Amino acid sequence: MSARQRIAKALGAATVGALALGLTACGGDSGGDDLTTIGFVAVGPEGAWREANETNIQDTFTEEAGYELKYAPATNLDQKSQIDAFTSFVDEGVDVILLSATEATGWEDSLKRAQEAEIPVILLDRGIEPDDTDLYVTRIAPDNIEVSTAVADWAVSAFPDGANYFVLEGPAGVSVVNERNEGFDAVASGQPGLVKVGAQTANWSTEEAKGVVETVLKSNDNDVQFIFAQNDEMGLGAVQAVQEAGLTPGVDVKIATIDGTKNALESLAAGELSFVAEYNPLFGETALEVVEKVLDGGDVESSIVVPSATFDSPEAAETALPDRKF
Ligand code: AHR
Repeated sequence: MSARQRIAKALGAATVGALALGLTACGGDSGGDDLTTIGFVAVGPEGAWREANETNIQDTFTEEAGYELKYAPATNLDQKSQIDAFTSFVDEGVDVILLSATEATGWEDSLKRAQEAEIPVILLDRGIEPDDTDLYVTRIAPDNIEVSTAVADWAVSAFPDGANYFVLEGPAGVSVVNERNEGFDAVASGQPGLVKVGAQTANWSTEEAKGVVETVLKSNDNDVQFIFAQNDEMGLGAVQAVQEAGLTPGVDVKIATIDGTKNALESLAAGELSFVAEYNPLFGETALEVVEKVLDGGDVESSIVVPSATFDSPEAAETALPDRKF
């Protein structure tokens, strides 16, 4: 049953004629006779987390499930390419748009266009700023404040006598970076023993993070005890830099990361990373349930939190690894 038919069914036969005319006017073009078209404005190649997340979405919205998923990854993480894809989906009249935004700001005009075309927009992972919940149906993501607060709480317990720490951030202007700083800082700022020696983006990159940490260790005479890396790839780069400085990760310098990918858990199991907060990328089923509910005329919360775990020891990592799906 296409989206148009679902919406008509949800509203009852009496309005079918008017609705059908309305939908024709406002788009809502369904793929094929029975397929619901989904325009997925995606980030594209960015790292293990993104690959797991976008593969999971594509593996969920299949033709067998009744969908035609149009995947539109950004060109080199460029927001303009995303806005262009978004506009094309609106003009094409897809039934639903899924958006993982490379930048938090600059979406108002696009979202208003989708609203005028009566095309529901669902945010995946990344939020928008300002967060105008009237401009989209819902955001599906783990809670970045909760995840980064877990990192900070662990740091407080791991360093009862304090520590000098450095933060490896994701790219400037990305919503989750701002949220992770907010959650972490809210706890760390109340701990005078935790002294921030600096923060710098390493753009989610292992290589870039390794270079940044090499410089930080040199400029602080290795007097850094803790590194908060806002994703796994950067944390693994920090491990390499600590080792190349002749220090022992997990002993001289403890490193905490966010994502919970297999590589990070293997590093935690080896005693290199010290804490990994999962940011669960596998929420395709949740996204499909939300799409179904929206197309059937149901209400959904403006924010849907994806549950995520934490791993604070080699044993915890070893237990999780055999069944790890990303
Ligand atoms: O938006 C989620 C973040 O984007 C992940 O933590 C990071 O690995 C990805 O690149």
